[in-house]
Amino acid sequence: MIRPTRLIAIGAAVVAVLAPASPASARHHHQPPPAATPPMGWNDWYTFSCDVNEQLVEQTADAMVASGMREAGYRYVNLDDCWAASTRDADGRLRADPAKFPHGMKALADYVHARGLKLGIYEDVGTKTCAGYPGSYGHVQDDADSFASWGVDFVKVDWCNVPFGDFPGLSQQQVAVKLYTAYGQALKATGRPMVFSICEWDPRLQPWTWAPAIGNLWRTDNDYGSQWSQTLANLDQEAPLAPYAGPGHWNDPDILMVGKMASDTESRAHFSAWAMLAAPLLAGNDLRNMSAATKAILTDREVIAIDQDPRGAQATRLSHTATADVWTRTLANGDRAVMLLNRSDTTTRISTGLPSGAYAVRDLWAHRTASSAGVIAASVPPHGAALYRVSPLRGGAGRYPPLTEVSVDPQVPPAYPGSDLHVAEAGEKITTAAAFGDDGNTPVTNATLRLSGPSGWKIDGRPVRAPAVPTGGRLSGTWQVTVPADVKPGSYALTGTATYKWRAHTATVRSETAVRVLAGPAGSPYLSDLSWLSAANGYGPVLVDKSYFGGPLTIHGTTYQHGLWTNAVASIEYYLGGRCSRLTADLGLDDSVKGQGSVTYRISADGRPVYDSGVVTNATPTAHVDVPLTGAHVLRIDVGDGGDGISYDNADIAQPHLTCAD
Ligand code: GLA
Repeated sequence: MIRPTRLIAIGAAVVAVLAPASPASARHHHQPPPAATPPMGWNDWYTFSCDVNEQLVEQTADAMVASGMREAGYRYVNLDDCWAASTRDADGRLRADPAKFPHGMKALADYVHARGLKLGIYEDVGTKTCAGYPGSYGHVQDDADSFASWGVDFVKVDWCNVPFGDFPGLSQQQVAVKLYTAYGQALKATGRPMVFSICEWDPRLQPWTWAPAIGNLWRTDNDYGSQWSQTLANLDQEAPLAPYAGPGHWNDPDILMVGKMASDTESRAHFSAWAMLAAPLLAGNDLRNMSAATKAILTDREVIAIDQDPRGAQATRLSHTATADVWTRTLANGDRAVMLLNRSDTTTRISTGLPSGAYAVRDLWAHRTASSAGVIAASVPPHGAALYRVSPLRGGAGRYPPLTEVSVDPQVPPAYPGSDLHVAEAGEKITTAAAFGDDGNTPVTNATLRLSGPSGWKIDGRPVRAPAVPTGGRLSGTWQVTVPADVKPGSYALTGTATYKWRAHTATVRSETAVRVLAGPAGSPYLSDLSWLSAANGYGPVLVDKSYFGGPLTIHGTTYQHGLWTNAVASIEYYLGGRCSRLTADLGLDDSVKGQGSVTYRISADGRPVYDSGVVTNATPTAHVDVPLTGAHVLRIDVGDGGDGISYDNADIAQPHLTCAD
């Protein structure tokens, strides 16, 4: 039974903090149910795709042990697609590709088991896997039996090449329920416990409404990529899905991209978000070669403990804007996890409130505890997250240092009116505000706040001081910052530093906010030769000078050397800095998806529409576009799904040629 013990208000919401779950249910089971907490392990797909073999799996198992990941809780070494031979044997049984796995799957499972780990494998409910290997359709019990006899512990079952024609009158969702139910029953019938991972990737079939009764985890969205916008999209998709998750059955926002994101800050935020979602933690990077930072993120015990909390209550979102989110989840011992997520490209102060009281706030990435009187606030870097465990403060207000914060807010004008992009220019004067706050349970004394910048940047204004800052108090100041006349494009940090005394201790807290300086292109480059400001894609990454299937971009038989491959729904932005006058390009669906898919292309300059294709299919002649850009700072290309979902929407932007000042 679950008893509410007290109430905490966070942001706008009031939420019950619940007492620890009763251990009564545990008494009746000697063995925890499969996937009692979200499965942890590794999956090869996002780094190795079809390039898998015995050596890779063995080396990965060894690396999982050597890196400390096994100690941290990782268990499953999961093969994805392309492990199988291209045909079944004479008895209709699956077999491993003999060139990739010369010793077979049983020997591989033995190798993995001998290291205290478990082996995962991949199949598909359809006639073929997504990469075209034999599917389980018509062979489900045989395949489940093969997996059990090999000693497999985890089975991921995909959703490609489903023969819907065999199920007249059934909706796609009904076919999915039928096929996955049968697969689950076949796995159970083997008698070997195997985690059942349902990889039905089409969110329109709402797997969370039917999969919890059938499998241990189910995908909640399409395949994503290592772009920040895609991490956010998969996170957003799960905002309303907390009620469907719990011990034994989990929403699956897809394989981890830790170590594959654009920065360690993004990787930490992504890992924080997946921990809040009680997501399966399947590392998608090469465990044999990872940076110290990647390893530290993947093995952070305190963050993993949030993901693996035995209560299994997935986080819910308390507040959400285009810039910042606050998420919270209730933990088994009554503590709460809180994530402050900065979705934006600018350092942002994010805060949330508890009823005034006394709290211990553990920063799970910094591994530091502070006291709070009710406010939790931090200046969070772009694409970053702060993650906390909040508990009642025991042992008096003096036990931990007060939670303090500094924020720096340079007032850089937008690239064009209404733009989220703020760009500084040479010689510009930027008014910059900074503030220090004491959110702790004790006042601080002798506080000084100063602003500093990169060398060559002039800063007018003096440090501000206060003899004391009370609980909940703030000390703030304003400075004039001058960007050097010879500044080069880049990101430049303005740093606010506060020093103060807390009891007999001297403490320092600092935070920085970057000012961005960009340069527009010169001459007549292809867009595909420039680095984009942002590129969001509906499936996989946006690709440069090649299509998804590796070949050149091809529209109606014409191949193009230059250009971008995208999949709806996409949006790609470039900084022009007012230097370019026109863009020409050929637009159309890539020939590799002949006969399928539909998209729309929309081009805008500083938010003003300059081109709209209407719905484009393979039957639409190539559009030769020539659009004016005069004076625009930001070029944006949006690819819509043509109203029929994103499948097969492989949209080429071929020979995208700019004309700019020299
Ligand atoms: C689908 C799945 C991926 C991966 C590939 C393998 O796209 O969603 O996770 O398994 O198939 O072909």
